[in-house]
Amino acid sequence: MPYPIRIVGDKVVLREFTPADLDDVLGIIGDDRVTQWLSFDSRSRDEATAMIKGTIERAQQDPRTEFYLAVTAHGNEDRVVGFVRIGLAGVKAGKLGYATAAGEWGRGYATDAARTLTTYAFQELGLHRVSAAIGPENTASIAMVERLGFAKEGILRDHVFTNGTWRDSVLYSVLAHEWHAQ
Ligand SMILES: CC(C)(COP(=O)(O)OP(=O)(O)OC[C@H]1O[C@@H](n2cnc3c(N)ncnc32)[C@H](O)[C@@H]1OP(=O)(O)O)[C@@H](O)C(=O)NCCC(=O)NCCS
Repeated sequence: MPYPIRIVGDKVVLREFTPADLDDVLGIIGDDRVTQWLSFDSRSRDEATAMIKGTIERAQQDPRTEFYLAVTAHGNEDRVVGFVRIGLAGVKAGKLGYATAAGEWGRGYATDAARTLTTYAFQELGLHRVSAAIGPENTASIAMVERLGFAKEGILRDHVFTNGTWRDSVLYSVLAHEWHAQ
């Protein structure tokens, strides 16, 4: 059971969440600028507390099927600037998700976090496929996975219900033998 995990990337360090991360986490998942692009609506303080608790519990399950990690900058691992997640689903497959605090956008954190966790998923977890489902208008996220070498597969119709309405997703994936982003 890989717990606790700490993975060092070029710009970021990925680590497990702790209850002390509440304020930083709320600053991300309680911010409509961030959650308008996610599959869930903005969370309250109590909901963020429960989310962290659930994440820590699931991280310690054996076998571990969720790798939901805090993104921190090198040299300041106490402060969470984002999250990155791979949830195992299907045959040697994982679903990738990520977000960065709005005040930290454009600094390369999400790209490095996604690259680092995807490399971990292929090299350490032995996955064959990693996919990402992205809102069709989420140009920043689409540009990011395309730069990382993910291929577009198609459209998932009415894939998520968020902000009071159904939303399609564009499905992207990368396979183990295609992964050269390390
Ligand atoms: C998508 C997201 C995670 C990117 O985080 P980030 O830490 O800013 O990402 P990075 O700095 O590593 O790179 C983002 C890339 O998108 C580009 N970008 C940023 N905003 C953009 C926009 N509005 N349109 C097009 N590209 C944009 C950046 O320029 C960068 O590309 P570059 O390196 O070629 O300049 C962030 O915008 C976010 O948290 N969005 C809300 C949540 C979300 O969409 N999560 C993904 C759901 S699928």
